[in-house]
Amino acid sequence: MRLRRQRWSTIGAIALAAACGGADGKAATAPVVPVIDADTFPLRALAQQAGIRIGSAGDRGFRWTGSDGSTFRAILGREFSVLTPENDMKFDHVHPAQNTYYFAGADSLVAFAQQNQMAVRGHTLVWHQQLPTWLTSGSFGADEASQQLIDHVTTVVSHFKGKIFAWDVVNEALNDDGSLRSTYWLDHIGRAYIEIAFRTARAADPDVALFYNDYNVEGMGPKSDSLYTMVKNFLARGIPINGVGFQAHLTLNGVPPTLGANIARFVALGIKVHITELDVRVPVPSTNASLTSQAQNYHDVVAACIQNRGCELVTTWGFTDKDSWVPSTFPGFGDALPWDNVFQRKPAYRSIYNALAGR
Ligand code: XIL
Repeated sequence: MRLRRQRWSTIGAIALAAACGGADGKAATAPVVPVIDADTFPLRALAQQAGIRIGSAGDRGFRWTGSDGSTFRAILGREFSVLTPENDMKFDHVHPAQNTYYFAGADSLVAFAQQNQMAVRGHTLVWHQQLPTWLTSGSFGADEASQQLIDHVTTVVSHFKGKIFAWDVVNEALNDDGSLRSTYWLDHIGRAYIEIAFRTARAADPDVALFYNDYNVEGMGPKSDSLYTMVKNFLARGIPINGVGFQAHLTLNGVPPTLGANIARFVALGIKVHITELDVRVPVPSTNASLTSQAQNYHDVVAACIQNRGCELVTTWGFTDKDSWVPSTFPGFGDALPWDNVFQRKPAYRSIYNALAGR
């Protein structure tokens, strides 16, 4: 799946040939002078040349369907080659009642992705948030909770089999100190719930890549050390795990200096790394200076992924500031994404572009 990483001179030749009508990528006869034009080359094309993929989360909020919907969907489909449903595959969305599954919302996102030749990243099977009340306010025992987990994972993974290339099987199971977070699943089932989830997902789909996803694991520290130990342990015991997702919900100038080394140590275990939910929140109102620093932060993350073979994907958590979870979640912060409220590209877009272009 991974493309050989190419030097920019080759990229320029291919891109220019394509732009001149040589869409088959055959060598152009004219001397090649790489002309880098944001309107000619979508991010996804540059990412492909860089040997990674670039994705965005998407939610069927008003910008998906409202008066801005066509602009929103056009940018999403044009610039990104991977779509992560921001909410539509979460437990409360797909499994709203004990014996009811609802897939129409998520299916429509999968259909959009297919129409736009985008791969779909499944998010997320087992998490402590966005759980339905039938689950959390019921009085279930350990065996029932195990059965609920197995039933849920089996049903959801089976439904999307062949349509999703990677699943966040377990999301945010760790505390910042590296211990296991108290969740419905831990509290009912015990620590085995994590490996049960991975084994069950593998049984339901032998081909999909299975990821553990979390935040504050981007740099070295107690949380990522604990994750590293867990992955090593799983691999040694034959628990199926193919990758880790670094969410990368970053604050301005908060890119961990150890990001590259941390990616490298997970990759050295023989698994993949995805940057799964990248955004860089800045104090609002933002300034030219803060947006310039933000752009550098985006550049650093994308470059770290490209530089570490085994980091396959950078996904931003939405792509416009208006459709971001940040303002409502982190009061005083916003403007976290590469496009602004009115779909104008920000310096962060340009810096992602440059990083993908090897500059
Ligand atoms: C967030 C969504 O962006 C919001 O729309 C929703 O209200 C709450 O969840 N980590 C995750 C994501 O794994 O699923 C979260 O997404 C953000 C934090």
